[in-house]
Amino acid sequence: MKRLLSGIKPTGELTLGNYVGAIRQFVDMQKDYESFIFVANLHAITVYNDKEELQKRTRDLVAIYLACGLDPEKTTIFLQSENNYHNNLGWVLECNTYIGELNRMTQFKDKSKNKSENAITCGLYTYPTLMAADIIMYDADVVPVGIDQKQHVELTRDIAQRFNKRYGDTFVIPQPIIPETGEKIYDLQNPTKKMSKTEENPKGCIALLENPASAAKKIMGAVTDSDNKVIFDQENKPGISNLMTIYSVLAKKTIKEVEMEFKDSNYGTFKKAVADCVSKFLTDLQQKYNDIINSGTVDKVLDDGIKKAREIAQAKVAEVYQKVGLSR
Ligand code: TRP
Repeated sequence: MKRLLSGIKPTGELTLGNYVGAIRQFVDMQKDYESFIFVANLHAITVYNDKEELQKRTRDLVAIYLACGLDPEKTTIFLQSENNYHNNLGWVLECNTYIGELNRMTQFKDKSKNKSENAITCGLYTYPTLMAADIIMYDADVVPVGIDQKQHVELTRDIAQRFNKRYGDTFVIPQPIIPETGEKIYDLQNPTKKMSKTEENPKGCIALLENPASAAKKIMGAVTDSDNKVIFDQENKPGISNLMTIYSVLAKKTIKEVEMEFKDSNYGTFKKAVADCVSKFLTDLQQKYNDIINSGTVDKVLDDGIKKAREIAQAKVAEVYQKVGLSR
C-alpha cells in the first residue's frame, strides 16, 4: 500500500475550507493509502501563539480529525512535537538546502512582506525544511495539500533528490496532490479569495465549530452575481459556483446534479438549501466533536499514533545519521 502524509497547523479556527480542501480528502483517501496525518504544532510557533490557545487548538484539531471520519485503524494520527526525530531530520535537511531556495518560497515572501527583519523569525524562514522532514521521514508517496503548499512539496522533492544523490538512496520522492476546482472553497464575501482561518472579514468564513444558525446566516448573505441562474462558472460566477461546491460536497452530489436540481430555482431558494445543508452538517459534526473531546479518545489516539510514528522515524534518522557520518 502506498503511503500518504499530511498535516495541518493548529492556528486560527478550522473552517469549512479546511474540511472541503483537506480533511475530507484525508478521510476519502485513507482506505487506499497507509495514512499519516499529524498536527503540525512545531510549525505553529513560527509566529507567536498564545500557549493556552495553542494547546486548545491542538486538541481540537485531533477531535475534529476524528469527528470528520479519520479512522485511527487506518490513519496514524500524531503530534509533531511529540516526535523529536522531526527536529533531527529537519536540521540535516536544513544543511542540505540553500538559502537561495528558501528565498524563493512565495509563502515566506508574502508573510514577511512589509515587515521589519526584527519581526520575522528564523523559524518562519526555515519552515519548508522542517516540512520536508515531516514528509520524507515517512517515505510518503503522496502529500495532499492546498495549492499554497505546492511549492513547499516541490522543494521537498528537490531536497530529497539531492540527498539521495549525495548520500545514496534514502528517501522516497513525494508527489503533491492538489484539490481541483470544485474541491476548494472561497471566501463568502470575496469569492476569488480562498476561505481562510485568518480572513479578517468574519462573514466570509465559516468555522467548523461555529453556531450552525450563524453559519446559515452567512450563507444567506453570501455575495453572488445578479444573473439568478444556478450554473457553475468559476470565472464569471465565482460566488454562486462557490455555494454550489459547498452544497455538492456536503450533499454528496456532483456539480451537474446540483445544476439539475436547481435549474428552475432562484438564488434565494438555492441559498436556503445550501444554508440548511451547512447547518445540518455542522450540527452533526459538532455533536461528534463534543462526544470525542469530552472522552479519553484524543489521548488514546495520540498515544497509539506517536508510538508508530516514532518507530518509523527512529529508523529513518538512524539511517540518515549513518549516511551523513553523524556516528562514531
Ligand atoms: N505547511 C503546512 C500548512 O501550513 C502544514 C504542514 C507542515 C504540512 N508539515 C506538513 C502539510 C507536511 C503537509 C505535509 O498548511
